[in-house]
Amino acid sequence: MRKIYVFDTTLRDGEQSPGVNLNTREKVEIALQLEKLAVDRIEAGFPAASPGDLAAVNAVAHAVKNATIVALSRSREQDIDAAREALKGAQDPCLHLFLATSPIHRKYKLRMEKHEVLETAEAAIRYAKKYFSKIEFSPEDAGRTELDFLCEVVEMAIKAGATVINIPDTVGYMTPFEFGNIFKTLRERVPGIEKVQLSAHCHDDLGMATANALAAILNGADQIEGTINGIGERAGNTAIEEVAMALETRADFFQAKTTLVLNEIARTSRLVSKLTGMVVPGNKAIVGANAFAHESGIHQDGMLKEKTTYEIMSPETIGLKESKLVLGKHSGRHAFREKLIDMGYELSDEQLNEAFAKFKALADKKKHVSDEDIRALLEEKIVGTPEVFVLDHIRVSYGNHSAPTATVRVKRADGVELEETAEGNGSVDAIYKAIDKATQEEVELEDYSIKSVTHGKDALGEVHVVLNQGDISAQGRGVSTDILEASAKAYIDAINRLIDKRKSPGTSRRGNMSLI
Ligand code: KIV
Ligand code: ZN
Repeated sequence: MRKIYVFDTTLRDGEQSPGVNLNTREKVEIALQLEKLAVDRIEAGFPAASPGDLAAVNAVAHAVKNATIVALSRSREQDIDAAREALKGAQDPCLHLFLATSPIHRKYKLRMEKHEVLETAEAAIRYAKKYFSKIEFSPEDAGRTELDFLCEVVEMAIKAGATVINIPDTVGYMTPFEFGNIFKTLRERVPGIEKVQLSAHCHDDLGMATANALAAILNGADQIEGTINGIGERAGNTAIEEVAMALETRADFFQAKTTLVLNEIARTSRLVSKLTGMVVPGNKAIVGANAFAHESGIHQDGMLKEKTTYEIMSPETIGLKESKLVLGKHSGRHAFREKLIDMGYELSDEQLNEAFAKFKALADKKKHVSDEDIRALLEEKIVGTPEVFVLDHIRVSYGNHSAPTATVRVKRADGVELEETAEGNGSVDAIYKAIDKATQEEVELEDYSIKSVTHGKDALGEVHVVLNQGDISAQGRGVSTDILEASAKAYIDAINRLIDKRKSPGTSRRGNMSLI
């Protein structure tokens, strides 16, 4: 079996998804989970974009021991210097340089002739080579670049010292046949191609990112680039879990595999979804809630007789296992701790106490507490954000012929209790107005979404919000059997995170610096 390297760009291209804005703590948490998943390379960010991005790449570089840490850089010396600074402390640093090569980008974006593109990229690679032994070079928009010119660019990059050549389908325009052909042609025509690794970086604008990455593998790519859950710029990037599971399930066809720890896929997917606030659609391949659910009677009958009738992969492979211990309101701390261990959580005594209290409160309202409920409770809070405000009490009065009114009491970190009442267009609006008055924070609600964690009338509701304040934006999450309470918790969580961001100068602001 040929090994396919996995280059994860969740923290860079993934973070370019509209509305996503991760802080340093969140980036480190995701990076550590990617390390558990055993991705080979982690692109931690674009250090030249802002001091906050540089600091986040540096924090990841210090935290991760078992993966190459990559920093993105335009083909210019200041960017390379910023990346050098950011990658200090990395066990195995790598610079990712890029410059656009397609006619459209050359003419309108760069205003450069072919020879200028070649000269600029070569100068950047040679400059970077003084400081980095590992350099990946990407001819941006390679998919729409003339094949002859692309061969010329790749040959130049290899001679100048690149160790990985990445072929981006920047705008998701390629079909699998065409994209595979680029790799085949490069392997056939470019002198020295055997000295470097070839990589595929696809976008999903036409829904072909995974198919294109697999076509690249069949035609000689050594590495695929992608993100967890396929998040990323516009329609997103290749979903790493899809490629890994395609190679695993159809090893007979591809004769190639990744070395990912596959049973960390589900956990990684949940973490990325939670921290980015990007909900995974139920029908998403591999990690969607319905990916292993069988609804039709005929399918269920087949599954009961023999699983392989309708299941080409088992949920356990990606780490979805329903543990045998069923918890309810009579379960004690010991059973709860065993359950968490069974589900793969390692909690300190203090965290266990907090989680147990939440579990007891939920078990009072719900007869059976499922694994999903427990996960939702444990993962409710975004790690490490100081709680300036905590929801203490909420009361809502609603009638379809009167204006909804909410009274909310929050506790501030210094112990002061703040209670306010407000009317709104709906119950959630009234709650949010009351919270605004109590916390005296001026925020704008950009996004609100709600989903049910499990099934049934007593299911936990999970609310996700995105708030803006000036040029800072933050997400928040709240979980409760009552959706109004979940809405209030999510809003307060986002306010706490906005306050935290305001205090750390240089953290990513709204909008990403353009990659020109
Ligand atoms: O899609 C793209 O072209 C990129 C490059 C920076 C590699 O993300
Ligand atoms: Zn990209």
